[in-house]
Amino acid sequence: MNQSAYIAQEDRYDNGMKYRRCGKSGVLLPEISLGLWHNFGEKDPLPRSMEMLHYAFDHGITHFDLANNYGPSYGSAEKTFGIAMKQSFHPYRDEMFVSTKAGYDMWPGPYGNWGSRKYLMASLDQSLKRMNLDYVDLFYSHRYDPQTPLEETLQALVDIVRAGKALYVGISRWPKQAAQFAYEYLAARDVPCLIYQGRYHLFDREVEEEGLLQQAKENGAGFICFSPLAQGLLTDRYLNGIPEDSRIAHDGRYLKPEALTDSTLRRIKALNELALRRGQTLAEMALAWLLKDDKVSSVIIGASSAAQIEKNLKALQNSHFTPDEIAEIENACKG
Ligand SMILES: NC(=O)c1ccc[n+]([C@@H]2O[C@H](COP(=O)([O-])OP(=O)(O)OC[C@H]3O[C@@H](n4cnc5c(N)ncnc54)[C@H](OP(=O)(O)O)[C@@H]3O)[C@@H](O)[C@H]2O)c1
Repeated sequence: MNQSAYIAQEDRYDNGMKYRRCGKSGVLLPEISLGLWHNFGEKDPLPRSMEMLHYAFDHGITHFDLANNYGPSYGSAEKTFGIAMKQSFHPYRDEMFVSTKAGYDMWPGPYGNWGSRKYLMASLDQSLKRMNLDYVDLFYSHRYDPQTPLEETLQALVDIVRAGKALYVGISRWPKQAAQFAYEYLAARDVPCLIYQGRYHLFDREVEEEGLLQQAKENGAGFICFSPLAQGLLTDRYLNGIPEDSRIAHDGRYLKPEALTDSTLRRIKALNELALRRGQTLAEMALAWLLKDDKVSSVIIGASSAAQIEKNLKALQNSHFTPDEIAEIENACKG
């Protein structure tokens, strides 16, 4: 692909994408964001990755979520994104909201993991190089580190903003008490936490039960849901077995065949019936169900094709649920 091959669609903001304010910040996020955890690594076909990125941006998806270790191999999703930045998105940088993270194992030795200042600073510098960016819009601590003083991790986030390497910071998967400390520490230094990133979908209500959604709101932060489709379980992907090209068939690490128990399949089928009655696919209903809550700023979908992104965007057409529908969905989730 040559450098002038991509021109963004002129009607990219007129295709039905809606934007929500992220907490009490000035930032608006698209209700559906795209994550590059899977399907953007070095083994994935680059033309398909590019097609997905182009399709997303052409349809109002302005937020792209990465992390240092997305791939495989580690770093390779950021490299793919860096190719897109250079070849396609360079003229559109100011229309994009790009996040990355550090917190999991990234390079060997004592400085390539967890939450030290040493690791976070070095990791972000590496990420910027891979992504061909001067700064990211959002940098996350990817996980809570029980061994490193929270002040050290959080001060690194503050200093990263002060150094102009990230415009905003966020936390992902931090437990409630540590998250409260983070909200207060960051606010006291005038670098308010923009957003909390947590796993939230029909089958996993932990962030609701732990009060993390409410806590983000009370602290003026947004909340962004990851794996909103339970990695594909909350779609029609597995209704009739395990397709060869599906995540269960080829991933082997994060989503294993064992996840598809008889009881889970029964719940998926019951939810699928309810979705069809609403005139939606299961994926659309699962995303719409999250978006009915105004504490949710955005949902980060993953995709293995542009067609999946296209289908999932239809969720935006109906995120209204009657009380009866909510009750039926709850019953179906319980199995
Ligand atoms: N902060 C964290 O610790 C953390 C952890 C995990 C994820 N994340 C973020 O969240 C993002 C999304 O995570 P995820 O990929 O697990 O999200 P997801 O949206 O729950 O699952 C995405 C997968 O579902 C399948 N799918 C999507 N749309 C479909 C459709 N319409 N019909 C059928 N199948 C469909 C595809 O799998 P197939 O391959 O089977 O087609 C796709 O790769 C990640 O990229 C990352 O940015 C963050």
